[in-house]
Parts: sequence; C-alpha cells; structure tokens
Amino acid sequence: MQSPHDYIDQNLERFRAELLDWLRIPSISARPEYASDVRRAAEWASRSLADAGLNASVEETAGNSVVIGEWRGAGESAPTVLIYGHYDVQPAEPLELWTSPPFEPQIRDGRVYARGAVDDKGQCFLHVKAIEAHLRTRGRLPVNVVVLIEGEEEVGSGNLLPFVRDNASRLRADAVVISDTSMIAPNVPTIGASLRGLVYTEIIVDGPAHDLHSGTYGGTVMNPATALARIIATFHDDDGRVAVDGFYDAVDPDEEYRRLIRGLPFDEATYLAETGAPALAGEAGYSTLERLWLRPTLEVNGLVSGYTGEGPKTVLPSRALAKVSCRIVPNQDADTIAELLRAHVHRHVPPGVEVSVRVLQGGQPWRARFDTPLYAAAARALERAFGKAPVYAGEGGSIPIVPAFEEVLGAPVLLMGFALPGSNTHAPDEWMSLDNFDRGLHAAAALLDEIGH
Ligand code: BES
Ligand code: MN
Ligand code: MN
Repeated sequence: MQSPHDYIDQNLERFRAELLDWLRIPSISARPEYASDVRRAAEWASRSLADAGLNASVEETAGNSVVIGEWRGAGESAPTVLIYGHYDVQPAEPLELWTSPPFEPQIRDGRVYARGAVDDKGQCFLHVKAIEAHLRTRGRLPVNVVVLIEGEEEVGSGNLLPFVRDNASRLRADAVVISDTSMIAPNVPTIGASLRGLVYTEIIVDGPAHDLHSGTYGGTVMNPATALARIIATFHDDDGRVAVDGFYDAVDPDEEYRRLIRGLPFDEATYLAETGAPALAGEAGYSTLERLWLRPTLEVNGLVSGYTGEGPKTVLPSRALAKVSCRIVPNQDADTIAELLRAHVHRHVPPGVEVSVRVLQGGQPWRARFDTPLYAAAARALERAFGKAPVYAGEGGSIPIVPAFEEVLGAPVLLMGFALPGSNTHAPDEWMSLDNFDRGLHAAAALLDEIGH
C-alpha cells in the first residue's frame, strides 16, 4: 500500500501549484475594500478541505468567516486534533519594494515569494495536504481532526474568541496544532516555547481646532506634535526600561526559561544583518533573545503630525497621532497594561492639549507546557522529517487566540512552525522555503500518526 509520505513525494508539484492559487487571492483583513477577496480566500480554503476529504464549511461570525473542516472517523476513543491557521494576510505596502508583485506568487531560488506565503497560507496548507495524503492512501486518519482556518488573525482575532466559546463542544480537542511560527535557523526543527501578548493603542493629541500659521500663533498655544513627543519621551528610561509605573510588576522572571534561552545557539551578527540596523539596542541587562522572548516592550509603531510634504510650510498642527503598542509576557495582563499605559499618558499631558488613548487590540501572552505527550509526539514527527531532534525556542510575536484555546478547550497547544529567519513576514518580499514546505508536509503527516499511536 502506498504510504502518505510516498503520496506527498509524488504530489508535491501539484501541492505547490495549488498553494500559488491561494496566494493569488489578496485576503487583506485590515482593509474593508478587500472584503470580497477575503471571502474568496475562505471559500477557496473550504474547497481545498473538502477536496482533501474533510467535511468542510464556511461559518459566519460578526467579522470575517471561519473555515472548518472535520473528520471524525477515528471513533470516540481516538484523540481529536484541532489544527489552526489563518487565511488572512497583512497589507502588502510598500508595493514598490517587492521584487515581484505580492499577489503574483513567484518561485525563485527554492522559495515562493508572495504576501501570505509563510504567514500563514503556506504553513496552514501543508496540514491540509498532509491530511489529504493520509485519506487518499489509507482511507482514514489515525486521529479525529478539526481544521479551523480563520480570517482575522492579522487584526487581532477579535471575533474568533466568541466563536470558539460558542462552538466549544464542536471544537473540543485533545491537542491544538499550529504552524504559524519560525524555526530558529535553517534545518533546525523548532517547537515554539512562548508567544508574547499584545496591547495595541492609538494616542491622539488635539490642540487648536485647525492648523494655525506658526508665526501668527506660534509660541502662544501648545503644539500637539511637541506635546506628543514629550509624552513619548517619558516611555523609556536611559537604560531602555519601560518607565510606565507598575509595568513590570507582574513579569515572571522565570529563571528556568532564562536558562533554556541561554543554552540556545544564537548568531547575533546574522540577526543584526537581518534587521539592517546600525547596531542592536534594548533593555540593559538582557541578551537579545531574552529581550525578545522574556521581556515586555513598549514600541511606537507610527507617528504623524503636521506638514511632511516637499519644501517648507510654516504651520502649527492641530493634531498629532501615534500608534503605540506593548508586547507583554507572563504574567502581565493585556487589560491591566492598557490601563497602566493610559494612566501614564494622562499623567504626562502638557497643559494646553487634549489627549485620548484608544485600545485597538489586545492578546494575552503564552508559554508552552512541555510536559505533555503532544510535545513528545511532535519531537518524533519533526525528527522523522528533518533527521534531527527539535529545539525549543520562543517567539517575540503574538497569536492572540492561543491562550484562549488552552483556556476554553482545555487542550495543550503545539507551535510547530516552518518559517525561516529573514522570511520577511509583514514586509516586502515575504517568502517560504519550498524545502520547508516539503519537510513540513512530512512532519505534519507524521505528527498525525505519532499522536494516533
Ligand atoms: N504568524 C504571526 C505570529 C508570529 C510573529 C509568529 C512572529 C512568529 C514570529 C502572526 O500572523 C502575527 O503576525 N501576529 C500579529 C498579531 C497581531 C496582529 C494581533 C503580531 O504578532 O503582530
Ligand atoms: Mn501568522
Ligand atoms: Mn502575521
């Protein structure tokens, strides 16, 4: 009998071609004008789940639809695996910096280049095809499977949480598997050890009712741009620590995790080169990996005010705006941090302007609990696909629904990611390694067997 792995080897070209079709759909969740493309990407995903042999449906939420695929033929006594991914992608701008257009996928040097190639369509699709490989060769899966592919991860998964709560019994699972993270280096299979949470805010400083002549009025009213700069200047101290009162109160120093981080190979020069920055910088007293995985941050994501076009314009702006977000770690709480930040901003408003702080998005941090059989199964599956045992590594980024899966479904989450460092997620020229697509397919197919045993 043909094995799922033979099937994968024999159908690899077709899998790639199908993935390219999905990548052609610009399913940008942040932009209302792409709503019909978002919808098309959901329907495409549902069709591919049905083609793979699952019971597929597109389910409505208050926002973008959730795609579900189910196969429950393994019986009541067999474990159920929930596989999660997202079909939505980040905006592609700046378009002029792409070597090939973001939604015209191109294969170059063993990589597929497109928006969503690795975040997350490519990584999500390899699970669909691993399931297809099992069903086409053996007619069954070693476990019950529910695939959940959502369309709002890149905007915070705000409508997925109620969906998961409302459908908890249908989504009930013994393990949750997610491929939406990175490997620490090429050929180093990696199990995700942590995610940071996120608190995303918008700070608006309002001064005069409209822009003013900076000669006629300058020096007599508070300038909103100056006021905002003064507020932002209070966010950090000279050691790069966040200077918001109470910010670090709940932070778990987690010496055990710190030891794990210290034991990992990490090439600082390669990392610096990836950033293109002149030097690395951050909180004093911590290594780069500790700053990324163990420590919370506060970052300005965007900042605008006044005239920024060609040539001079002597104007006193009426408004200044900043997008400011925190990455948070256990045991910080997203709502608490939002309130601390809001209070800090309001304490530092110079007289003569009005400030509003709006929370746009929140997600809790997460740490893996390694002591589950799921991780042993994943280690064996990854070893089969890569020929070596995986390492545990953290992630600086966030996947908002992860803590909720554990809380609502009571099942452990496994992060088994196949992105490589430098794959330009959220940036121009995003890519996924075709070799990792191939190995990921084998790892995903092997994982179903390993969990089933
Ligand atoms: N796949 C990423 C999460 C991620 C980021 C994993 C970095 C590994 C490394 C996910 O799609 C993402 O971008 N998440 C957002 C969440 C936000 C929009 C709520 C993030 O981290 O900014
Ligand atoms: Mn992602
Ligand atoms: Mn992303």
